[in-house]
Amino acid sequence: MDEDKLLEQAKAVLKLNDRGSWTVPAGELYPHQWLWDSCFVAIGLRHLDIERAQAELQSLLRGQWSNGMLPNIVFAKGKEHHQDRELWRSYLSPYSPTKVATSGLTQPPMLAEAITAIGEKMKLPERRSWYRQMYPALLHYHQWLYGERDPHKEGLIILLHPYESGLDNSPPWISELRKHSMPWWVRLVEQLRLDGVVNLVRRDTRHIPPGQRTSNIEAMAYWAALRRLRHKAYNSEAILSHSLFAVEDLAFNCILVRANSLLGRMAETIGRRLPQELASAMGCSEAALEQLWDETGGIYYSRSFISHKLIEEPTIATLLPLYAGTISKEKAARLVELMSSRKWFKANWPVPSVPFSSAYFDPLKYWQGPTWINTNWLIIKGLENYGYHDKAAQLRQKSLELVANNGLNEYFSPINGQPAGAPNFSWTAALSIDLLKGS
Ligand code: GLC
Repeated sequence: MDEDKLLEQAKAVLKLNDRGSWTVPAGELYPHQWLWDSCFVAIGLRHLDIERAQAELQSLLRGQWSNGMLPNIVFAKGKEHHQDRELWRSYLSPYSPTKVATSGLTQPPMLAEAITAIGEKMKLPERRSWYRQMYPALLHYHQWLYGERDPHKEGLIILLHPYESGLDNSPPWISELRKHSMPWWVRLVEQLRLDGVVNLVRRDTRHIPPGQRTSNIEAMAYWAALRRLRHKAYNSEAILSHSLFAVEDLAFNCILVRANSLLGRMAETIGRRLPQELASAMGCSEAALEQLWDETGGIYYSRSFISHKLIEEPTIATLLPLYAGTISKEKAARLVELMSSRKWFKANWPVPSVPFSSAYFDPLKYWQGPTWINTNWLIIKGLENYGYHDKAAQLRQKSLELVANNGLNEYFSPINGQPAGAPNFSWTAALSIDLLKGS
C-alpha cells in the first residue's frame, strides 16, 4: 500500500468538500453540514491544520438551539437548497437559531471526542483555552440530552427518529418502524407496488444505485415520521405523548458514555465542576448500558422505549460497548470473539454493519451490511480500550488497504471491497488520515 499516495488522495477529498469553515460530507449527495460527519472531519483535519479543524467544530455551533440541542444538519444557504430547508422548517421551534436553518433532530454525540482530539495536538495553555471556548456549548448539549431525552431518568437517551442514530436504516430501526410507524397509505403503496414513483422525488437515488440505499417504502415511512415531529415543532414531550417510535439506541448511548467521560476530563482540565444534576444523570448511564445486555444471546441490543423490550436485531452497534469503555473485560472478550466468527463479523473486509447471519444482510445496502470507515474507527478505539492492540492494528491496516484499493467512498462491500454510496466521502478521507497518522 502506498501510504503517501493515500494521504494525498484523502487531503484532496477534504479540499474538494471544503466550504470555507466547514465541510460537506459529499458534494452532490450531502451539500450541507452534518453533526457527526464534521466531528470525524475535524479528527482528520487536526493533523493538517489545527485552526481549520477548530473552525469545523465552531461552525457546528452556529446551528445550536437555545435549549442546547445540536442539530444533525446545518443547512447551506442558497435558493437551490430551499426545498431541503423547507422539509425541516426549523423556524417552527422557538428554540431554533435565526441566522441559519437547521434540522430539528440530533445525531451521535461525537463532539466531545472531536474537541479532545484537537486538544491532544496542543500544548497545555492552548488546550485549556480551546476547551474553555467549547465547554459551554458542549455542556449545554449534554444537559439537553439528559433533560429532554431521558424522561424517566433511566440514564439512557432516547431517539425519536432513525436519522438521529446516524445508522439510518439499521435493522432495529426498520423493525420498529414496521411494527409501530407505518402509515396506512405507505402500506397501501407497498401492497400495490407503487413505490417506484418515489424515485421521482428522491435525490440520493439520482446519484447512487437504488439497491445501495434505503428502500422507497422505508424512505416514505421515515418521511412520514419526520413530518409528525415537525408537526409538533420538534418538542420531545409533545412527540412522546403520541409516538410509539422511540428507541434507546445502543450505538448512540455507547458514544454518549465515552463523551461523558471526556466532558468530565475537559471540565477538570479547565478547573470547572460539572453541574450536580448533570453529573448524577451521567453517572447512571454506565450502569444503564448494562440493561441493554441480553444474557441469553450474550450480546447488547437497542431497546424500545415504549415496550421496554430489547430489539433483538444485532448490528455493528453490538460492538460499540467496546468504544464506551465501561463494560467488563469478560463482556469485551465476548464481543471480540464475535469479530472472529464467520457467522458474525469476520469478513474479508471487516467490519460489516450487520452480521452475516442477519436476515437483513446485504453487502451493498447502506447500513444493512457494508463496511463503513467511521464504525471501524470507533471499533479500533474500542479494541485499544481493552488492550487488544494487535487486533486494533490489524483492523487499522485492513481499513487503510480497503480505501487504498477501492477509493474514498462512503461504504464498501465486506465481501469483495466493492466501493458503494457516494465517492469522495469526507469522513472516509478524514479518518483515513487519522489512521495513517496513527492517532
Ligand atoms: C446519512 C448517514 C449519516 C450521515 C449523513 C451524511 O444520513 O446515515 O450517518 O451523517 O448521511 O453523511
